[in-house]
Amino acid sequence: MNWGRWLIGGLAAVAAVSSLAVAQDDETEKAIERYRQMLRQDPWSNPALLDADRGEDLWKAPRGPKNVSLERCDLGKGPGVVDGAFGELPRYFADAKKVMDVETRLLWCMETLQGFSRAELIKRPHPAGGQPIRELGAIATYIASKSNGMKFAAKLDHPSEREMVALGEAIFMRRSGPFDFSCATCHAESGRRIRLQGLPFLSDPEAARKVVGEWPAYRVSSTHVMTMQHRLYDCYWQMRMPELELGSDASVALAAYLVSKAVGGDIAAPGLKR
Ligand code: HEC
Repeated sequence: MNWGRWLIGGLAAVAAVSSLAVAQDDETEKAIERYRQMLRQDPWSNPALLDADRGEDLWKAPRGPKNVSLERCDLGKGPGVVDGAFGELPRYFADAKKVMDVETRLLWCMETLQGFSRAELIKRPHPAGGQPIRELGAIATYIASKSNGMKFAAKLDHPSEREMVALGEAIFMRRSGPFDFSCATCHAESGRRIRLQGLPFLSDPEAARKVVGEWPAYRVSSTHVMTMQHRLYDCYWQMRMPELELGSDASVALAAYLVSKAVGGDIAAPGLKR
């Protein structure tokens, strides 16, 4: 056996396969872009709107052990005010003495107003592939949809808010876990991708403004809506880090960091992802 030829042949095959993969990537990306275009032309065709509707019903219905609705929940603009609230989150809430993103705030309201068990709500908060988004996520989708067309306007100037953004940035940049990955390993360069997936440069305001406002989003490949907390949970899992708990400081810090980069960008939620 001529090992030199075997090696060169092998390398040539690998090169051929990877250029084929690139060609296929481009085809797939074009097809997905066409699909997105079609959905954009008919915004009512985004399946996430069904979840936003379900979320609206859940927001208004008396539920939980205390049998009250979430209409007394203060998302930052006063009890029950939904319009534009998402666009100003995350923010510091004096009643909870914490910075919260939309899902963390809903978790808090479901616990304190409706009497739901926090432990139950955070046990399995995100749907598996093909499963519909859970109730908290559907409500978050509804809340986000009520800022659709607005700009991210989180102030993030309260000392606790600034602290959370700084913590988020530190987690984003810090390599850790068994693979020694940071978020920046995959998300701090333009034009990167893994297999078919574009990897946005999330520390760059221009790129962040394009994508952060699209969450929660209907994800075509898993046929359900994913919230930002779910997206972060999955990326954390890709890093083989411990499970990212819904509503944890780490999750809110990352969300706050991403929003701090996206401020001024459009909110186009619910969005649509590959
Ligand atoms: C191993 C690589 C990898 C690491 C590390 C990683 N991600 Fe991701 N991330 C991805 C991939 C792949 C996607 C796209 C998934 C898809 O298309 O469904 C993605 C998507 C995202 C998105 C959505 C982008 C969009 O297009 O809307 C956000 C936000 C995000 N990641 C945040 C993070 C954060 C924060 C961290 C660190 C906690 C992180 N990621 C770590 C691979 C990674």
